[in-house]
Amino acid sequence: MKKIVNNAEETINFGSKLATSLQAGDVVLLDGELGAGKTTLTKGIAEGLEINKNVKSPTFTLVREYLDGRIPLYHMDMYRLEFSDPFEVGIDEYIGGDGISVIEWSEFILDLLPDQYLKIEINKISDNSRSIELTATGAHYEDIVKEVSKNE
Ligand SMILES: Nc1ncnc2c1ncn2[C@@H]1O[C@H](COP(=O)(O)OP(=O)(O)O)[C@@H](O)[C@H]1O
Ligand SMILES: [Mg+2]
Repeated sequence: MKKIVNNAEETINFGSKLATSLQAGDVVLLDGELGAGKTTLTKGIAEGLEINKNVKSPTFTLVREYLDGRIPLYHMDMYRLEFSDPFEVGIDEYIGGDGISVIEWSEFILDLLPDQYLKIEINKISDNSRSIELTATGAHYEDIVKEVSKNE
């Protein structure tokens, strides 16, 4: 499914609604250039999980844990992976574990990705408009996309 949003708040709202269809162990890959809105969408997912802490980009830490919501959220950003070892940070243990993993720049850890996941591609249309496209790999994620489409 594909959705057009016209400002950051709509991206956050979309993430928040999406979160209600996610469960522990789910893996969400966020693709899109710098400034596309990957972290902004993650803020929405956190909001939907009733996480109160402000989501900040994990660019320099690779991962930030948010444990105060309905389900743990592990927000990862592999953009600066070249400076750290993903195994040292435990990236492989977060993925598919007891929380929801949201991964920016997952193309840098292809070897660590599971067979099935939800991919979200965000593309800039203009300063404030974005297209958000969801692609499921695996039956579980196809169900999620169906549910999200139904709620749109
Ligand atoms: N529709 C939109 N969706 C998401 N972000 C938007 C949108 N319109 C403008 N923005 C702005 O674009 C920037 C996106 O930044 P960020 O979410 O950190 O991107 P990324 O994580 O993809 O690098 C933010 O400054 C945000 O306010
Ligand atoms: Mg980001």
